Amino acid sequence: MEKQLSAIVVVARDNSIGKNGGLLCHLPADLKHFKTLTMSHSIIMGRHTFESFPKGALPGRQNIVITRQNDYQALGATVAHSPEEALEAVAMPGEVFVIGGEQIYRAMMPLVRVLHLTRIHADFPDADAHFPLVNPQQWRVVSKEAHKADERNPYDYDFVTLARL
Ligand SMILES: NC(=O)c1ccc[n+]([C@@H]2O[C@H](COP(=O)([O-])OP(=O)(O)OC[C@H]3O[C@@H](n4cnc5c(N)ncnc54)[C@H](OP(=O)(O)O)[C@@H]3O)[C@@H](O)[C@H]2O)c1
Repeated sequence: MEKQLSAIVVVARDNSIGKNGGLLCHLPADLKHFKTLTMSHSIIMGRHTFESFPKGALPGRQNIVITRQNDYQALGATVAHSPEEALEAVAMPGEVFVIGGEQIYRAMMPLVRVLHLTRIHADFPDADAHFPLVNPQQWRVVSKEAHKADERNPYDYDFVTLARL
């Protein structure tokens, strides 16, 4: 059966997604949202993103790590050597999530049908990783949920789901 390929990303107003190998900011509401959506599914990521996880592979999901290194080993994860090999390695049912970072979004966005965005209402001029531009004419908004900053989440943010037309 054909699997639905989705991408999930936290993206700022200026399209930034990361700095110094990590995320832009701590947004616990987004971490919860990410966990809810991806739990029990396969998640595909680049080697840098995998190595940025403080506790290694994310539990309850098949972690698929893409690297060009033939001898790379990733504890608790499946290693793939191309986006195509990553898709072939998918072993968990339902939606498959591309979870970054920049290189892997750029390589796999052409294949992605559904985009789960967390849009942060802020700019991060010192960011060094960015999301590829999304042409709004190629996507329709499926859902949008606006949230205000609060004591735990320092910026206003929206959860937006887009589907490719
Ligand atoms: N805001 C968000 O939602 C979000 C999500 C994820 C990550 N991020 C951020 O994004 C940044 C990391 O992004 P990044 O672009 O540096 O790294 P990345 O995409 O996570 O990983 C890059 C690595 O993936 C491998 N790779 C890339 N393309 C490949 C291909 N076609 N075939 C085989 N292997 C390939 C290479 O590994 P080897 O060098 O081992 O060959 C490459 O060095 C971090 O700041 C991270 O926090 C943000």
